[in-house]
Amino acid sequence: MKVYRSIMRSAVRYRETRSASLLCVLLIAVTGVRGLSNVSIDIPLAVAAGTTVNMTCRYDLQSDTLYTVKWYKGSEFFRYVPKELPPIAVFGELGAKVVRNRSDEHRVVLKDVQPNHTGKYRCEVSGDSPSFNTVMVSGYMHVASLPNGRPQLRIEKMRYAVGDTVRGNCTVPSGNPPANVTWTVNGTPVNSSSIKFINEAIGDHQQHTTVAELDLETMQDSFSNGRLQILCHANVFHLYKETAEVSLKEERPRLASVLGTRESSYIGSGTKCTPEYFYITAMTALLLCNLR
Ligand SMILES: *[C@@H]1O[C@H](CO)[C@@H](O)[C@H](O)[C@H]1NC(C)=O
Ligand SMILES: *[C@@H]1O[C@H](CO)[C@@H](O)[C@H](O)[C@H]1NC(C)=O
Ligand SMILES: *[C@@H]1O[C@H](CO)[C@@H](O)[C@H](O)[C@H]1NC(C)=O
Ligand SMILES: *[C@@H]1O[C@H](CO)[C@@H](O)[C@H](O)[C@H]1NC(C)=O
Ligand SMILES: *[C@@H]1O[C@H](CO)[C@@H](O)[C@H](O)[C@H]1NC(C)=O
Ligand SMILES: *[C@@H]1O[C@H](CO)[C@@H](O)[C@H](O)[C@H]1NC(C)=O
Ligand SMILES: *[C@@H]1O[C@H](CO)[C@@H](O)[C@H](O)[C@H]1NC(C)=O
Repeated sequence: MKVYRSIMRSAVRYRETRSASLLCVLLIAVTGVRGLSNVSIDIPLAVAAGTTVNMTCRYDLQSDTLYTVKWYKGSEFFRYVPKELPPIAVFGELGAKVVRNRSDEHRVVLKDVQPNHTGKYRCEVSGDSPSFNTVMVSGYMHVASLPNGRPQLRIEKMRYAVGDTVRGNCTVPSGNPPANVTWTVNGTPVNSSSIKFINEAIGDHQQHTTVAELDLETMQDSFSNGRLQILCHANVFHLYKETAEVSLKEERPRLASVLGTRESSYIGSGTKCTPEYFYITAMTALLLCNLR
């Protein structure tokens, strides 16, 4: 019995110490040791000039109360202080773009953004006393002035024999930043050594026209069913995706088609009655006549 009672007593003592440490954990939580956390910024990577942008700053206050949220692009342009009335204050040229009634402690809405608003945006969140925890996060946003129109594709000529060089230009209307241009031939990306870029800056708004030059030597396997499908793809982030396309023909010397190509062997079987068939039979008739 004695032994049993002493076990009971130690079990009780154990439970007491455990609840004491639990209380300690609770106290730490209440007094704000676990405060402001999980701060993150959510802004678009790229937007078109003239549009409205939502920028979000997420955070978990936990036991803290909010003191301020400040937004910077270089200098401060937005501040939210819940203790003040009104809680929103804006500063400078960017501050004038803030849509106040759609902005709050988590969000800033900017209207009519311009290319010079491209850059690094920072959000700074501070907890109130006694902790005054402050966390700063940042993100980068491009404001693009999109090309006004589709790319234009110019190719030297329309027919090519194997071994010829296809020369052409793809011109994308001016924008900022300049568009990325890539080429595909019959669906296959063109080796970059065949491409050259010329960026022409025009005007004082740093607008750039992109001219991509193609200089591609054709090979036996370049053609697909006697055709070269040339595509110029122009992109500005996910905001502008346009293509220009041209279909070039393979130029085959007529003699080659008479002498031992597939077409002439089809003729033998008599299953095909194409204009070429009549042409070739006429030629054969002429040859036979001359031989006689
Ligand atoms: C932070 O956020 C993530 C995902 O939203 C969540 O899983 C995690 O529990 C959060 N952490 C804290 C400390 O709140
Ligand atoms: C901005 O947020 C508002 C409200 O949440 C939404 O209706 C709108 O579509 C958003 N705009 C953009 C560009 O994401
Ligand atoms: C915000 O204010 C503008 C006028 O300044 C008003 O036209 C618009 O409806 C308001 N939007 C909201 C969401 O309250
Ligand atoms: C940005 O460009 C606009 C014109 O598009 C101009 O009014 C504004 O002052 C410029 N802002 C800065 C910070 O350069
Ligand atoms: C492509 O552009 C360059 C430079 O503007 C020019 O010299 C060349 O003739 C152009 N080629 C074609 C096929 O238009
Ligand atoms: C492109 O072509 C050049 C020469 O024809 C070759 O050296 C290079 O490896 C090629 N690059 C690719 C990515 O195929
Ligand atoms: C062009 O392509 C590069 C590499 O993929 C990318 O980093 C850049 O953002 C693109 N620029 C535009 C304007 O789309």
